[in-house]
Amino acid sequence: MRALLLLCLLTFVFGAIATETVLPSDSRITYSGRFDKSNPKMYTYDWSAVQYGISFIGHTLGIYLKDAGNQYDLIVDETQTLQFNATQDAGMAYYTLIRFEHAEQYHTVRLVKRTEALFGMVSFGGFEINHPDRSLSPLATPTDRPVPPREFKHRIEFLGDSLSCGYGNLGHWPCHFSADTEDAMQSFPYLTAVHFEAEPHLQCWSGKGVVRNYGDVNTTSADPFPTFYTRSGYHGLIAQVRRFHPDATVFLGSGVTYREPVDYVKRIAAKEGAHFIDLSNTLKTDYGCDYHPDLTADKRIAQRMIDGIAAVVGK
Ligand SMILES: *[C@@H]1O[C@H](CO)[C@@H](O)[C@H](O)[C@H]1NC(C)=O
Ligand SMILES: *[C@@H]1O[C@H](CO)[C@@H](O)[C@H](O)[C@H]1NC(C)=O
Repeated sequence: MRALLLLCLLTFVFGAIATETVLPSDSRITYSGRFDKSNPKMYTYDWSAVQYGISFIGHTLGIYLKDAGNQYDLIVDETQTLQFNATQDAGMAYYTLIRFEHAEQYHTVRLVKRTEALFGMVSFGGFEINHPDRSLSPLATPTDRPVPPREFKHRIEFLGDSLSCGYGNLGHWPCHFSADTEDAMQSFPYLTAVHFEAEPHLQCWSGKGVVRNYGDVNTTSADPFPTFYTRSGYHGLIAQVRRFHPDATVFLGSGVTYREPVDYVKRIAAKEGAHFIDLSNTLKTDYGCDYHPDLTADKRIAQRMIDGIAAVVGK
């Protein structure tokens, strides 16, 4: 009886699960896309397709998030894509992302945001790893075990509205928009970035125009897209992009849903020394939700973008 008790106690001691909290500023977490990193304990983000990941040994990986309903791809060991939906919008919440039965080998897990900025600013408070052996370091450093994505040949920053976010692309008209119908990783900007092996920065917001928002009765809106990028109009926006990225090649694309703005945007491109890509007649009748492109149309628009960019910078 005594031996049994001792055995039980020993098991209890050695079986104790160690928990490690990994703060957002930990260099072992890798990021891609735009994040506000001014607070080391709480990074914030909102744009589509931003991603971050970690490499670790453990039984469970959890996350602290304040997120009002975004959905994510959860890519495990670069081989398996699961989905993770943030559902608790009341405040900072803990979610278990994944459990592994055995905790003997390293796994990489990365989150990629499928949904767009209109679901609100997200706060990331860190990961939590539970591992069964205190003596094992639960994390690898990025240099000895990098979490993809690693090296990109280029970076493409896309500025756009719903079309660029993949708004409704998972649906088939008739249907209306919800987080369930949007996948940024199948939007034409993302597909274009993948083609050029470029890191995608997908700054888009449904309904936000460059000068006028969707549904506004006035010619100009109080809070159009540049408000969220910088406070400027069309020319001002391009000037700001150039200020941030002096060596960038700038492309302006227009015409997916209406042919109307094409000539206007073309003139701006000519004035600004930017390259114009005519995207008209790319959306046939393959509508997703609310007459937006579906997955087939996104591929067709991506091809038009790819051809337009390749004509200037090469394949
Ligand atoms: C997340 O939401 C999508 C769309 O409703 C659903 O298909 C998926 O199963 C959900 N995933 C999880 C893990 O709840
Ligand atoms: C349109 O402009 C008027 C006059 O400036 C303003 O009062 C109104 O709020 C604007 N409407 C919208 C939807 O912004």
